[in-house]
Amino acid sequence: MKTEAFQQAILNWFEHQGRTDLPWQNPITAYRVWVSEIMLQQTQVATVIPYFERFMQSFPNVEILANASVDNVLHHWTGLGYYARARNLHKTAQQVSSELHGKFPETIEQLMELPGIGRSTAGAIRSIAFKKPAAILDGNVKRVLARFAAVEGWPGKSSVHNQLWDLAELYSPQHRTAEYAQAMMDLGALVCKKTTPNCNQCPISKDCKAYKQGNPTNFPGKKPKKALPVKQSFLLLIQNNQGEFLLQQNPPTGLWGGLWVMPQIEHQSDLEPLCQKLGLDIFEQHMLEEKRHTFSHFHLDYRPIVVKVKENLYEVQEIANQVWYNPKNPLSLGMPAPIKALLKI
Ligand code: ADE
Repeated sequence: MKTEAFQQAILNWFEHQGRTDLPWQNPITAYRVWVSEIMLQQTQVATVIPYFERFMQSFPNVEILANASVDNVLHHWTGLGYYARARNLHKTAQQVSSELHGKFPETIEQLMELPGIGRSTAGAIRSIAFKKPAAILDGNVKRVLARFAAVEGWPGKSSVHNQLWDLAELYSPQHRTAEYAQAMMDLGALVCKKTTPNCNQCPISKDCKAYKQGNPTNFPGKKPKKALPVKQSFLLLIQNNQGEFLLQQNPPTGLWGGLWVMPQIEHQSDLEPLCQKLGLDIFEQHMLEEKRHTFSHFHLDYRPIVVKVKENLYEVQEIANQVWYNPKNPLSLGMPAPIKALLKI
């Protein structure tokens, strides 16, 4: 299939079937496209929509975002996961606002210098917001192209990744860049679906190698499986006599970086010394059922322990990055979803 015929088929399909009423498409600005693309990097459209709308209400432009506290930005991210995205968003807003007079750059190279913006996100911003030619290759587009050209292998492997980028570049048009970029993502999300592709609705199926071979779901190739390691810990729901829970803020980098969490211990025997250090006397404790939270690179099996304490006023000291959190009168803190869920017990 010739490049022009491919582009034409995709653009014709978009006119009738593409999405044009997503919140970040109305209106289209570089700021809104950028925020939505960062949210969409690891999260599906349906989940992103309400987060995007709340984010725009609170941070309607790049200056307001740059001047917000990182805690407030993280608070708006609670539940979306991959929190480095929120911290990078905030850093990028500060750079754009202070070093670039509030204007996003238009070239791929300059966009990629900003924290959290990779090649595909840069391509999406350039093509959708600035209407300039640029290739994109997010998860949806990878699937469409891997099937269309029957590219073997897992896209995490650099040779496969490079082949897919070459195809993405080859098919990207010089005109109607925004429609084409959106069309390829929509085609992946709505038609060329991961497990149930609707090949009979696809504008390029007659030239799709995987379709012709009868095995579209074999593409893209799967990651070679490695069992995730399991880590175990105890999460302490330390509750004072006013029913408030002790939360501490994680250091800015690392797992759940910058977020507010309950103290965590590896061994149950660490509980008493920890409470002593915090100036807390334990008068009751009980363990709840074990739960699992899966991160990208390990499973965390955690057992919550409810620990009722009295504050030992003689020894109590002000500790930075620590609060007593009242679920009936909650503070606006950035929290990982499993922690937030535990506070609802
Ligand atoms: N995934 C990544 N970017 C997207 C967009 N602009 N629309 C729909 N899904 C997307």
